Amino acid sequence: MNLFGFDLRWTAPETLVTVEDYRRAARRRLPAMVWSYVDGGAEGLETLRDNREAFSRWALRARMLAGNGTPSLATTVAGVPLSMPVLFAPTGFLGLSQWQGDLHAARAAAAAGTRYVVSTASSWSLEEIAQASPEGHFFQLYPREGDIAAKLMRRAWNAGYRTMMVTVDVPVVGNREAERHTGMGIPPVMTPRRMLNIARYPGWAINALRHQRIGGRNLVNGAGIAAAVEAAEIQNRQMVQATLNWNDFQWMREQWKGKLYIKGILDPEDAVRAVRIGADGVVVSNHGGRQLDFALSSLEALPGVVAAVGNRAEVLLDSGVRRGTDVLKALALGARAVMVGRPYVYGVTVGGERGARGVLDIFRTEMERSLSLMGCPSVEALDRSWVVPRQAGT
Ligand code: FNR
Repeated sequence: MNLFGFDLRWTAPETLVTVEDYRRAARRRLPAMVWSYVDGGAEGLETLRDNREAFSRWALRARMLAGNGTPSLATTVAGVPLSMPVLFAPTGFLGLSQWQGDLHAARAAAAAGTRYVVSTASSWSLEEIAQASPEGHFFQLYPREGDIAAKLMRRAWNAGYRTMMVTVDVPVVGNREAERHTGMGIPPVMTPRRMLNIARYPGWAINALRHQRIGGRNLVNGAGIAAAVEAAEIQNRQMVQATLNWNDFQWMREQWKGKLYIKGILDPEDAVRAVRIGADGVVVSNHGGRQLDFALSSLEALPGVVAAVGNRAEVLLDSGVRRGTDVLKALALGARAVMVGRPYVYGVTVGGERGARGVLDIFRTEMERSLSLMGCPSVEALDRSWVVPRQAGT
């Protein structure tokens, strides 16, 4: 229902059937500025599109009368037993979509038997998230110069995080043109028209207010934009450093006693180098098509990285995963598990913890049903023999 420009529709997460349903419902709840940040990509959106299209180039093998019963989705990542091979990728500023977004995402992941990777740019602090959900989530680090990185690593370790992902595909922030069109930024560039657009979302505006930190104190318990880092340090998005190199990664390996993953790898040679330095895992990712436009889609990049790494490290994949069958294809091509970014952001936007749970339920039921239809007993059994290059529809 639309009343004087206000969209009054309420959507119960349980009525949504697909991740795309969540996407549409989330879009209705967020001002254009925030939506451009959540859903946008770099420049011509070529990689964003390729990330999806790459999945449609593979068909799944189907074997009948396998008699397997309910397929098993259980696996481990970084030695942590998971009920399904889908984790929540790190997303910064989740509080812009739902003021308690990080807490909801962490609790939803834990309740479903998986893990949330907490971003360096999280809206709640590492300690607050660990307190709300003490199951042992993972920590994502944007590599910064020594002392800041060391401080963040110490904080993460002390708060109980034992697996760290270092994101290396942001030497500079990608050219997200939709954000520039809407004025999204820190601080946002406001015009009367943009203010009017935001005024159409009173529910969101209340959320945003609850999320503010004033004079070092939170307006409402706990939160504050980018509380994970010392707030001043990440202003102007100076989380990223164009001068960082492999020596810095080596230094991080020496500093971090837990499991270490490198996130944002597309090139097999980079993967090999990371593993030589001692990475326990590699995340094949193009940051959801938000960084280099015309970077290779992550699914296309996956087989090369898997072949180069062998069984010396775990290979994860993210960027463009929206369906249970996408997960199965990535696993068949050698990934141990996948991460999803935007899907759970839609989830928390629509329904907080319930919404994020709803998104994981969709992935779980889609994977179980498809494995049954394929005649495959478990995600562990998936290998290259379960996918076939697809002719139809390409
Ligand atoms: C991200 N991503 C990201 N990655 C990271 O390492 N640190 C971060 O703070 C963020 N922030 C962030 C914000 C938003 C709104 C999005 C959508 C993404 C990238 C993220 O971890 C992941 O690589 C992609 O989201 C995966 O692609 P899909 O699943 O969104 O298609």
